[in-house]
Amino acid sequence: MVLKIIIIKNQKKLFKKAAKLIKEISEKSIKKNKIFTAALSGGKTPVELFKLLSIKYKNKIEWSKVHLFQTDERCVPFNDGNRNYKTIHENLIKPLDIQINNIHVMQKNLTDAKKAAGNYEKKIKTFFKTDIPEFDLILLGIGEDGHTASLFPDDKKALTIKNKIIINTVSKKMQPKVKRITFTLNAINNAKNIIFLITGENKKKVINEIINNKKNNYPASLVRPKERLYFFYDNEINK
Ligand code: 6PG
Repeated sequence: MVLKIIIIKNQKKLFKKAAKLIKEISEKSIKKNKIFTAALSGGKTPVELFKLLSIKYKNKIEWSKVHLFQTDERCVPFNDGNRNYKTIHENLIKPLDIQINNIHVMQKNLTDAKKAAGNYEKKIKTFFKTDIPEFDLILLGIGEDGHTASLFPDDKKALTIKNKIIINTVSKKMQPKVKRITFTLNAINNAKNIIFLITGENKKKVINEIINNKKNNYPASLVRPKERLYFFYDNEINK
């Protein structure tokens, strides 16, 4: 695995560089496999990136060959503002008018979190025709506590699950305090490329500890894709 750290203090430039990289990865994947599979995280950080992709890259990426998935979701009602799908839909899917056949997201009703996780796992396995998907790209954020997707430091069991790609988790500390559905570490680490997109002074401590391999219990420290891991951050890293 190759680690690339991209530090750009100007957020606009940081997102531009991330968008350019996504275009490059998509071109390589489409050239090789005729499609580009990307799983997108939730949270607020990617919103500006999604907007940039939907405006500046509308005609620079072959969106008809892009297949979008979700890395994780909060078990809240479909129209709840906390729903990660709502962010992805409003800022990327809708403006680009991405076709329904290219959208592989979780079911609307997540009341039965366990069942919904099982259904999403089946959906992904059917699409990839394998038990463990190999995404061309997974876009992830990192929380101040070192969580990523919905894998949390206080849910240690979740990090050891090997025979599943989609599981339920819950964190006593996370807001909103709801059940989650998330990729397992196995599913994440089977990806070819992973982009961590992080902004904010408040994440400086956790990012420095992860990049400098300081001993920690952060799930984000366990992310190791097959080919390249990119850290995009708008603050400095102290070596
Ligand atoms: C979620 C996300 C989560 C997110 C981090 C960072 O469902 O909350 O998938 O892993 O990426 O919490 O969130 P921000 O980008 O809002 O800081």
